[in-house]
Amino acid sequence: MFARVARRYRGCGRGIYGYVASKLTFDPVHRDVLALADEEHFGNVLDLGSGRGQLGVALLEAGLASSVVGMDRRIRHLAQACHAAGGLPYYAVAQDLSLPLAVVSATTVLLIDVLYQLADDAQHATLLAACRAAQDRILIRTLDPDRGVRSRLSVGVERMMHPVSPHSGALVNPWKLPRLLALLTERGFATSITPCWGRTPFANVLIIGRRAM
Ligand SMILES: C[S@@+](CC[C@H](N)C(=O)[O-])C[C@H]1O[C@@H](n2cnc3c(N)ncnc32)[C@H](O)[C@@H]1O
Repeated sequence: MFARVARRYRGCGRGIYGYVASKLTFDPVHRDVLALADEEHFGNVLDLGSGRGQLGVALLEAGLASSVVGMDRRIRHLAQACHAAGGLPYYAVAQDLSLPLAVVSATTVLLIDVLYQLADDAQHATLLAACRAAQDRILIRTLDPDRGVRSRLSVGVERMMHPVSPHSGALVNPWKLPRLLALLTERGFATSITPCWGRTPFANVLIIGRRAM
């Protein structure tokens, strides 16, 4: 299935196709998120900081979401997502998450590897908007800054790549997990955390917030 998703990016050029194919193969977040969606259909999905949209496209290809809205500030990446998603109910919205954010409601909100790229006030506002929008669940993949060597390595690599990576945001600013969880809990979500680093040496975790009331 991931090979089929990657092939959708062929028309975006060899580099982009290669990037998406290797991301789908080696980053465990795609398998982990699809496994959850297989148990709990994701309905209408809002993907904040969607990048090139391969996760949303994979959810649609697998029949595990009804529609996906991808939001990002990088217009070129959104255009690539739309190209790849041809024929699927995928919609792209250009939005800088550090500016005031109005979001429509969605069954599931995804925040995959984007929160830690934002300044504190933008992270706070984005999380509040995600909580308002999410009818059933929020999924956050982030760096846990408290996993010892894994965290030092992850933050070090992110800071090194920051000036040159086309996937960077304003900062490398991962919140401590209790701060993230407290906000979700206050807003009525029951939370769980699982490692989401696969065979990598990094400190990525997946937070699942399910609406409890
Ligand atoms: C590491 S990439 C992750 C992309 C995607 N979620 C994925 O899993 O492949 C981070 C994404 O967040 C986006 N981003 C960073 N800061 C942003 C901001 N202020 N507003 C909107 N998007 C932002 C970047 O453009 C990039 O596409």
